[in-house]
Amino acid sequence: MILLNSSIGNYVISNGKRYSYFGGNNYLGLASHPSVKEASIRAIEKYGVNFSASRRTSGTADIHLELERKLADFKGKQDSVIFPSGYQGNSILLEVLKERYSDVFTDQFAHSSILTGIKINPADIHYYDHCDAGHLESILDKFKGSYPLIITDGIFALTGEIAPLDKIYPLVKKYNGILIVDDAHSTGILGKNGRGTPEFFNLPADENIFQSETMSKALGSYGGFLAGDKIFTELVRESSATYQASTSLPPSVVAAGIASMEIIKDNPALRIRVLELAGELRKKISGLGFQTTTDNTPIIPVMVNDIDKAKHLSSFLEENGIIAPFMNYPSRQELYMIRVTVSAAHTDNQTDELVDLMSKWRRMN
Ligand SMILES: Cc1ncc(COP(=O)(O)O)c(C=O)c1O
Repeated sequence: MILLNSSIGNYVISNGKRYSYFGGNNYLGLASHPSVKEASIRAIEKYGVNFSASRRTSGTADIHLELERKLADFKGKQDSVIFPSGYQGNSILLEVLKERYSDVFTDQFAHSSILTGIKINPADIHYYDHCDAGHLESILDKFKGSYPLIITDGIFALTGEIAPLDKIYPLVKKYNGILIVDDAHSTGILGKNGRGTPEFFNLPADENIFQSETMSKALGSYGGFLAGDKIFTELVRESSATYQASTSLPPSVVAAGIASMEIIKDNPALRIRVLELAGELRKKISGLGFQTTTDNTPIIPVMVNDIDKAKHLSSFLEENGIIAPFMNYPSRQELYMIRVTVSAAHTDNQTDELVDLMSKWRRMN
């Protein structure tokens, strides 16, 4: 376990020592941005630490509404609705859309928040091979006549791969289905306006596409949100038990979300920077002979395929002042890897230093 004794930035303090930090998902470097922190502190001074009530009873504050407006503007949608965590977003969507599907088709390596959110009869859940739209089509065909809901990660958390929505979306149309994309890692990063994978693939505005999103990664704060037209957001507010029965997001978190939205709106260069940096780093890591993936996202897995070697690489980096965590995640227990995540706040010197050390490790192992 990596013990943090500081805020997260491109450097962290762990066990009292300073490290160059390639962990976490602080893609745009906003988690400890001075104006985000300042906004949080001001919100605590004004509102305290917690509203201590659900949105529906007495827990809705003016800043919740302001954040929802800002998120809706960012997404180019009429409205948005926020709730305590991104993890809940898939459950909420699967819950409020339940009248619209009979069968769920999901990627075999879907995130655990997707899998735990599916509450239908297991016989009606169908897994397609990872990112394989051809296989998805063959299963959709087999269950022709069902009402399909297709659900996938947008960017896969472990491997940084982008789901092939360009191939999946035509199947959603062909089989009259609906699509949910978990864009936890894509929101704020992919697409011309940072709106996630549907925008990245230039999918048309379509009321049958839903995105589950979080503020805890690129968006510099915490909490989940869903954006759409007012009919959809009302549906969530009126029929999601999770939304209705959870304490509202705390003031510091809401204010951080608002401040981060302002920064993101004024600084599109941040997402360009993180993707450029990640692209160069991925190329260099792959050039050293390490096995990685190819999509340009801030997540760079370094597959070592041997648990001891993967752990050794991570410890070697740590001994030399760099944190790049060893990962073994619920959905991919068989993958032994370190996961390098890039932030817009990283400097070229930091990435060079990482590449030099990885090269040294490779020569020794
Ligand atoms: C693909 C995916 N979906 C959902 C979540 C949950 O988001 P949050 O941690 O903001 O609740 C994560 C988090 O790590 C994730 O990787």
